[in-house]
Amino acid sequence: MVRKAVLPVAGWGTRFLPATKSMPKEMLPIIDKPVIQFIVEALAGVGIDNIVFVTGRHKRAIENHFDFHPELEEHLKRAGKEQLLKEVRDIANIINPIFVRQKEQLGLGHAVLTAEPAVGNEPFLVALGDVLIDEEEKELERLLYLFNKLGKSVIALMEVPQEEVSKYGVVKVKELEKGVYLVEDLVEKPAPEEAPSNLAIVGRYVFTPAIFEALKRTKPGKGGEYQLTDAMKLLLEEEVIYAVKVEREVYDTGNPLDYLKTVVNFALRRQDIGEEFKAFLKELLEGKVKV
Ligand code: UTP
Repeated sequence: MVRKAVLPVAGWGTRFLPATKSMPKEMLPIIDKPVIQFIVEALAGVGIDNIVFVTGRHKRAIENHFDFHPELEEHLKRAGKEQLLKEVRDIANIINPIFVRQKEQLGLGHAVLTAEPAVGNEPFLVALGDVLIDEEEKELERLLYLFNKLGKSVIALMEVPQEEVSKYGVVKVKELEKGVYLVEDLVEKPAPEEAPSNLAIVGRYVFTPAIFEALKRTKPGKGGEYQLTDAMKLLLEEEVIYAVKVEREVYDTGNPLDYLKTVVNFALRRQDIGEEFKAFLKELLEGKVKV
């Protein structure tokens, strides 16, 4: 049974500087909720409430976000803002946060390995803090269901246009049943003509603890960073890895353009502001609003 999730959130977020100079990119808001909160709520929703955040020096805001805030709560109480008070307290109540520090930003693989003492010898989920999925709980449930059934690591995949494969870790697979695969090989950011498929790794994984041994044997790859993809290649030599294609929309929030698309998408679907925002966008595109 999977009881713990690892959220590596120690990266520099260089694509989002200067916003990320002193603020973690995982705290960027999708309107009024930080990206990381969506992910944490989905994890709690599928019963994973032991969350290991791999943080760095500049990530204090994440620790504070998932903690109580007595002064703010007192203020909201006095102001009679009961609903907001509940929301603010719920964030701290829904999970049991565990923080480990990645002292040097040596890559995603290194960040996951940093969580080993907190995870121990048990399977665990990894969720990247800059990716969102529609109805994420349902996708996580499928990942966990497959893990429980198959007993080996399962990773989430998405179809991407062939010309965009070089942005992702890409897999060579054998389809076992509709949307469920056996992973045969993995390549990090391949050129489109070298990509074994257009199935890219989403940023949601369930691993057996054997990944830690593979991570310890991994050598630094592109950019001197320890890549999780390289560790998965080593894991493949010892254990099978399964994969499942996500059925819902995936949103990248780690670079300005995709972040903006995500915010607009979520804003249009909001009950309180969606209609008005849509009308504004329409006017803007028709040239009726000054830019
Ligand atoms: P990214 O490469 O997308 O994030 O890593 P980054 O390094 O923060 O961003 P850029 O590329 O400089 O703009 C994927 C995930 O792995 C985490 C990041 O926080 C992100 O959620 N990560 C990356 C770590 O925790 N530690 C690292 O050393 C590197």
